[in-house]
Amino acid sequence: MEEILQQLEADLAKAKTLPEVEQLRVKYLGRKGSITLLAKNTDFSRLSPDEKRSFGQRLNALKNRAEEAIQEAQQRLAQQGASLGMVWSGADLSLPSSDRRFGAMHPISLIQRELEEIFQGMGFRVLSGYEVETEYYNFDALNIPPDHPARDMQDTFWLDDGRLLRTHTSANQVRALERYGAPIRAIFPGRCFRNEAIDASHENTFYQLEGLLVDRDISVAHLIGVMKTLLSAVFHREVTVRLRPGFFPFVEPGFELDVQCLICGGNGCATCKRSGWIELIPCGLVHPRVLEFGRVDTRIFSGFAFGMGLTRMAMMKFGIPDIRLFNSGDIRFYEQFPVSM
Ligand code: DAH
Repeated sequence: MEEILQQLEADLAKAKTLPEVEQLRVKYLGRKGSITLLAKNTDFSRLSPDEKRSFGQRLNALKNRAEEAIQEAQQRLAQQGASLGMVWSGADLSLPSSDRRFGAMHPISLIQRELEEIFQGMGFRVLSGYEVETEYYNFDALNIPPDHPARDMQDTFWLDDGRLLRTHTSANQVRALERYGAPIRAIFPGRCFRNEAIDASHENTFYQLEGLLVDRDISVAHLIGVMKTLLSAVFHREVTVRLRPGFFPFVEPGFELDVQCLICGGNGCATCKRSGWIELIPCGLVHPRVLEFGRVDTRIFSGFAFGMGLTRMAMMKFGIPDIRLFNSGDIRFYEQFPVSM
């Protein structure tokens, strides 16, 4: 009996978790535990009444001491847990969990959130419009004449009722001007649709982020300032930009804003097709006709607008090589963007 008790105490001293203690309780005091068996396997008929009594007493004492030792061990481990700030609920808090799964966020959502925060820091409000739009806001009010190639049946998904799936977030510009007037600072992230053949760099469903700022005395300098602030915040470093002329009916002058290639630093590589520059953000000063459509007084106000490809930005920022991954539904892709812990 003394040996069994010593063995138990030695075992308990080594136990590091509550389930280990529980295993020891079963091993010694369970239905087939060594202490239980000691009682069961003893042939009491061979003992005298005195021997029976004395054996019974010692056996009880052994059981009691074993139970006490086990309780002490449980308390010791529970206290260790408590000193780590844990409350013992009966569960073993030291066990690693078997299935550590964290949620992930779609890369478009990640970049959208980040951009929204940056723009909100510059006083822009975040607005959204309609994926199903009218021809008026998507085209006419943006000074896109009826014979413009962007209206070609091949580019636009038309609905039976004459409306369409917006081909760009620029459709929000005149809606916002009508509703909020000038001055205004707003961004409009959202999904756009074009009737395009899909390949590694073309999708019929993609995301843009439109920006619109209208105020007094707004010039190209303001546009460049905002774009540089934005790009440094997104790419976490100073970026070099240049403006090239670009034509869009709703801006005058219109530009293509290029960034010096972030991969090669401007020396020329495969990503920038050896040019050292990457075409990133079409933009310009809002065409007076667009402001007029929005009922803004062009004698007082001017503004700039830009239309970023959110999908494109996500590809650049995360190094995603194929646009088809975004809408693939492939969980192995999405899981690579875990929400930070
Ligand atoms: N809406 C244009 C497109 O989808 C992009 C664009 C160009 C937006 C110039 C603008 C802008 O706001 O000023 O191709």
